[in-house]
Amino acid sequence: MDFWQGLGFGSNPYVVKPLPSNADGRELLVGRNVELRSLLRRIEEGDTHVVLEGPNGVGKTSLVAVAAWVASDRFRRRETTQLYLSLPEALQIKEDASEFISDCYFAVARAFLDNEEVLKRAGRKVPKTKDIKAWLEAPVLKGRGLTISSPFGGGGLTGSAAANGSAGFSNAGFRATIRTWLRDAFPEGTGGLVGVIDNLELLETSAAARRLLEEIRDPILQLSGMRWVLCGARGIARSVATTPRLNGVLSDPIEITPVADEFIPHLIQTRLRHYSVRADSKAPVSASSFEHVYEVTHKNLRDSLRHAQSFSQVGEAEFFLSKTEREIAEEFTQWLEDEAIKHEASAKMQPRTWTLLEDLASFGGTCSPSDYEQFNFNDRAHMRKNVVELERYGLVNSSRDEDDQRRRSIEITSKGWLVHYARSEGLSSPAIPGT
Ligand SMILES: Nc1ncnc2c1ncn2[C@@H]1O[C@H](COP(=O)(O)OP(=O)(O)O)[C@@H](O)[C@H]1O
Ligand SMILES: [Mg+2]
Repeated sequence: MDFWQGLGFGSNPYVVKPLPSNADGRELLVGRNVELRSLLRRIEEGDTHVVLEGPNGVGKTSLVAVAAWVASDRFRRRETTQLYLSLPEALQIKEDASEFISDCYFAVARAFLDNEEVLKRAGRKVPKTKDIKAWLEAPVLKGRGLTISSPFGGGGLTGSAAANGSAGFSNAGFRATIRTWLRDAFPEGTGGLVGVIDNLELLETSAAARRLLEEIRDPILQLSGMRWVLCGARGIARSVATTPRLNGVLSDPIEITPVADEFIPHLIQTRLRHYSVRADSKAPVSASSFEHVYEVTHKNLRDSLRHAQSFSQVGEAEFFLSKTEREIAEEFTQWLEDEAIKHEASAKMQPRTWTLLEDLASFGGTCSPSDYEQFNFNDRAHMRKNVVELERYGLVNSSRDEDDQRRRSIEITSKGWLVHYARSEGLSSPAIPGT
């Protein structure tokens, strides 16, 4: 039997993907009522795109996905006449602006297809299905010899697509068409498509992020009928939201902090309940164990779920079925300690570097290069050397951001928090001889 079914679950309850933009996602989102309300208000009432800043794994993408669904649900319940629908998935930022712009337009076209019925029922003007399909299959969208698999097969140009032909299948033609669809379906003040521009920190420097956002300002951020939510970590969202050229286009960033401890048992129980298919299902990581790992990961939901998932893989279903809940919890604690010790042992660093890790942990896990004095370094370069060393062992992440030294671009990684756990608990201190 399948492992999860053996334990009484339909599938893995510790999946690390962002929550889906549907009723399931709404049910699974716990501890975010305040953020959800404020994001909804900004989507529905604001005239700037929303910016979210917060550490990786804190729940930004999930929050937006659920907010977009709640907005569309409000329309279904006739609580509002504004209709909001989400793009099929969050768009990952890319260095290449024109590729990223293509991704966006492609996603918008798919959203029109996915939501054709909803839009029609709402009395909105929708493009003809075959026109959308034609565009989705158009060679121009498939990029330089790259085939983007289209759910409709590679039929090529047919029907109206051919009619659309000569002038049609250029980037410019496609974009103009999309703009018309958006304007027709979502006249001013009647809602729009909600899209996520995710992981701005992948662009490394705030200068690169700013450049890219300026490049996409007109083709993407000024598209009428679109509500964008931009997400970033390590200070990048905060850094770009304040540039003059994007002023008036982007909102002040909303700071997303970790889900409060008090919600964690409920959060994980909701998940376990949602995924369980039998009353006697047995979870490898129960609520109290999850609270523990949430502490160890410094309140990182994604890392906590990832650890829960890895621990689930230590044995077959029978292994868990043969133990009491308490025994499983003890196994989990032991497993987590062993992982922490293993990682600590693999980091061969100078005492000064270890001290930096510890200081950084007590500082909250993130800092900017300009904080060097707080860590007792004489200059930036000296701190940098030690940061590079920590990075070499995967214990911190940092982006070199020459033009924003104040950006909190240095951050302890998931592995770094595990190693910190090993050290702060003295897990691997050598046995005292003679005891
Ligand atoms: N409020 C929440 N309640 C329950 N699960 C959540 C919540 N927020 C995030 N998650 C889960 O945590 C993980 C990380 O969330 P994600 O949205 O991907 O974070 P981010 O975008 O900030 O990196 C995902 O598995 C997601 O399902
Ligand atoms: Mg994300």
